[in-house]
Amino acid sequence: MLKGKNILIGISGGIAAYKTPYLVRLFKLAGASVKVILTDSASQFVSPLTLATLSENAVPSSFVNEDDQGSVSWNNHVALALWADIMVVAPATANTLSKMAHGQSDNLLLVTYLSAKCPVFIAPAMDLDMYKHKSTKESLDRLVSFGHAIIPAEDGLLASGLSGAGRMAEPEHIMSFIVNHLREGQPLFGKQVIVTAGPTYEPIDPVRFIGNHSSGLMGYELAKRALKLGAEVILISGPTSLDIEDETIKVIRIRTAVEMNKAVLEYFQDSDIFIGAAAVADYRPAHVHDQKIKKESFANPHIELVKNPDIIAGLAKIKKHQFVLGFALETQDVLKNGTKKLKTKNLDAIVLNSLEDPGAGFGHNTNKIQFLSKKNGLKSFPLKSKSAVATDIWAEILKEL
Ligand code: PMT
Repeated sequence: MLKGKNILIGISGGIAAYKTPYLVRLFKLAGASVKVILTDSASQFVSPLTLATLSENAVPSSFVNEDDQGSVSWNNHVALALWADIMVVAPATANTLSKMAHGQSDNLLLVTYLSAKCPVFIAPAMDLDMYKHKSTKESLDRLVSFGHAIIPAEDGLLASGLSGAGRMAEPEHIMSFIVNHLREGQPLFGKQVIVTAGPTYEPIDPVRFIGNHSSGLMGYELAKRALKLGAEVILISGPTSLDIEDETIKVIRIRTAVEMNKAVLEYFQDSDIFIGAAAVADYRPAHVHDQKIKKESFANPHIELVKNPDIIAGLAKIKKHQFVLGFALETQDVLKNGTKKLKTKNLDAIVLNSLEDPGAGFGHNTNKIQFLSKKNGLKSFPLKSKSAVATDIWAEILKEL
């Protein structure tokens, strides 16, 4: 959710400011660009150098900068505010809350806040009686009425030695609050999505298997897009060299079709949308040899195969409210074969891709698809990156829902 976002952090002067460098670090690790503004009193609690080093940006605290030669430059608070996709004030002292609530603008943090058009998150921090005070409550209520989100202070030991509510939320909690808040506005918020991806490997002996060329990329891109749209995502992946950086996607790694079926059935009842992008082997060897098969032991080698469960067809039989989307990879008659699969597997929709189209299917970072829905018919798309294809597929699914 935070990858590629510009996050502006305003730090006001409270002891909790010592925790904010860690928040900068968390945002950076999440892939965000971070800029920090300090009030003068905040710089007594936390060093601008620490924050500049962690954020990899200069940390202004006053309206003007003066260099060694005495030349003066203006810190452009308007540009800074417009740069931000998200502004976080952490810690927000009682003084800063009150000033923000009443439009005062006597420091760089406050003028930047007044210029900001982005969502603003506020993490108050103060002693327990200050936090309880009616004027603090009024400031917070006013800031909520402006559309800002308050990250509640937490309970615990305070700098005064007293114990109670007033501690700034821990940096990890600030981060998850913001991520959840952003997710709530997303179209798939509250939905659980299962995506299968990659091939299955059906073992013949400890060394060999029956597999296919699926890289998993199409399914991984669909899972990542679902997360961006706010869903809770479970990715059930066959063997691939791919990784998911975002830990909020639950990745379950399997090898065989039987293992994939078991994992899918474990999560399907609670899910809302299922996407079968995996290239599942239809058959597996009837017997798996304990030891590597020696070529001398077989004059006329043959492998007896048994049918694997058809995972997606099985789901269509037990589904209640779930939307089930299949894929069909064809080498000829894509529309005819895809339409047949849509019907026989009783799917809500199917994505057709054909190895007849250059750049489509597996072995590429691109795909060319047709989206065939029971409800809305056929829609064709040009060749695109698999990431862009995932965006198109999700746009079609959202129309279906
Ligand atoms: O992984 P990439 O390299 O990015 O390539 C993406 C892809 C080409 C693998 C993907 O876009 C794709 O087409 N996946 C489905 C490939 C396939 O095997 O289709 P199928 O016609 O065999 O299966 C039809 C549907 O039934 C699929 O949703 C499949 O997941 C499902 N199935 C198939 C067999 C089986 N035993 N159980 C299943 O659930």
